[in-house]
Amino acid sequence: MLGKIETISQTARDIMHGDMSRRLALNTSGDEFDHLATSLNAMLEKNECLITSLHQVTDDIAHDMRRPLAHLGQHLDEAMQQPHSPSQADALSHAKTNLNEALEIFSSLLKLAQMEAGADIPDNQNVSLRGILLSITDIYRPIMEEKQQTLSVYLAQNEMTCSGNKVLLVQMFSNLLENATNHCPAGSTIVVSSFMSDTTNTIIIADNGPGIPEHERERVFEKMVRLDHSRSIPGTGLGLSLVKAIVRLHHGRITLLDNAPGLCCKIQLPYHSKK
Ligand SMILES: Nc1ncnc2c1ncn2[C@@H]1O[C@H](COP(=O)(O)OP(=O)(O)OP(=O)(O)O)[C@@H](O)[C@H]1O
Ligand SMILES: [Mg+2]
Repeated sequence: MLGKIETISQTARDIMHGDMSRRLALNTSGDEFDHLATSLNAMLEKNECLITSLHQVTDDIAHDMRRPLAHLGQHLDEAMQQPHSPSQADALSHAKTNLNEALEIFSSLLKLAQMEAGADIPDNQNVSLRGILLSITDIYRPIMEEKQQTLSVYLAQNEMTCSGNKVLLVQMFSNLLENATNHCPAGSTIVVSSFMSDTTNTIIIADNGPGIPEHERERVFEKMVRLDHSRSIPGTGLGLSLVKAIVRLHHGRITLLDNAPGLCCKIQLPYHSKK
């Protein structure tokens, strides 16, 4: 009996970790456990359908709204070409900024939907992680310096390679560096480091900013989740969802840890040796 209860608990844990397709095994004896498993399976089936249709609605909205919003942008551009007063110019420019933000959200949602639906890496190539990290840190160094933040980079000398999509990997590291610079105050230090084992490339992006409390470290990967300390900072709450989807697509793993103080993002990507 304890074994049967443990099987139910294990299935519940798998589902909590994101495997919505898991179901309880039936023992075909028709006993109470079988009845319970049948009812729970029916409930799980219903939940999975609801979640799938909710995702579908989000994706459809993101897709269908892009065209009218793009047209709206063209109309705003045309209006800006016409003679207008300074206050109208102000209103038009605000409208354009808000529109661009909305388009950015829809484009991120669509990118996420595509990655969540696909199992294969598009345009899969042998990518140099060291090369990507060097060029991204070069881009972010002056941005951070302007905010009186310090960026230190310690990369393994080895040719760290991974099988993946370069554009997506660049986006992943950019989102994490963008978070470090946006969510940390002036005077903070951001450290990017990497090391390799036989099978894994490990990249760490650590800062000494406000950090993320332990109980929020899973939730921040959900779409549109932003913590209270970020309310006054512009953002959509989709950056970490994209990071997680890109890591998953590349068969990697991301862990958020306490940098005491600050946040430590640890990314592990499978090593791909150059033939
Ligand atoms: N380095 C960090 N330090 C402290 N909090 C962070 C850090 N990175 C992320 N967070 C918290 O996690 C939340 C989610 O991050 P996420 O990147 O998904 O969204 P965002 O940065 O707010 O907006 P955007 O979609 O533009 O990236 C942030 O709003 C912030 O509260
Ligand atoms: Mg972000």
